Amino acid sequence: MNFCIAPSILSADFARLGEEVKSVIAAGADWIHFDVMDNHYVPNLTFGPMICQALKPHAHTAAGVPVPIDVHLMISPVDALAAAFADAGADLVSFHPDASTHVHRSIQALKAKGVKAGLVFNPAEPLDVLDWVIEDIDLILIMSVNPGFGGQGFIDSALRKIEAVRQRIDACGKDIRLEVDGGIKTDNIRRVADAGADTFVAGSAIFGKPDYKTVIDQMRSALAA
Ligand code: DX5
Ligand code: ZN
Repeated sequence: MNFCIAPSILSADFARLGEEVKSVIAAGADWIHFDVMDNHYVPNLTFGPMICQALKPHAHTAAGVPVPIDVHLMISPVDALAAAFADAGADLVSFHPDASTHVHRSIQALKAKGVKAGLVFNPAEPLDVLDWVIEDIDLILIMSVNPGFGGQGFIDSALRKIEAVRQRIDACGKDIRLEVDGGIKTDNIRRVADAGADTFVAGSAIFGKPDYKTVIDQMRSALAA
């Protein structure tokens, strides 16, 4: 399995965001997870497309290999800002289906912009919409906390949902990433992978520690074990 670790800069030092992106890439980040909150869909407010655009030149390894920017939109409505993030250099853009009136149209609009499109499911949100759009998307993001804040505890029912999503992806046969977001630490990442996830968002677990590489290395050894 090609596992992918996506540090969430929601827990980074906002006064030094460019440096934080560089440090976490040097520490081994595969993607940069970018949490967009609008104080409407979720009760918190973070950053917009201009910050994404400002960080884009820093999103590469020391050898110059681009590191994808994985934008997680916690906003409603979806479409105008989704397009703005595509223009601002996002590589993947995911939105919550319950935040868009026309989910299929929002997905197609992202694809027309040339970015990968993802759907995000809250802990109590059913997966039914996947019956109709799974073949159109590149990523499914399962929330293992309620969206809005970093540093919350992992909700165990997410494991059953990850198993259900893995079955749907295998049945559809398309190459779709299965990402999980919220409460992921070095001591539970293995369980999340065993349930079927291949991509792991971690905010406070990484940015809450002084040495990002030690945490990312521990996550990779847990996944390899
Ligand atoms: C929550 C965000 C997460 C958050 C995860 O709404 O979507 O990406 O940063 O934070 P941790 O890893 O601290 O639970
Ligand atoms: Zn997120």
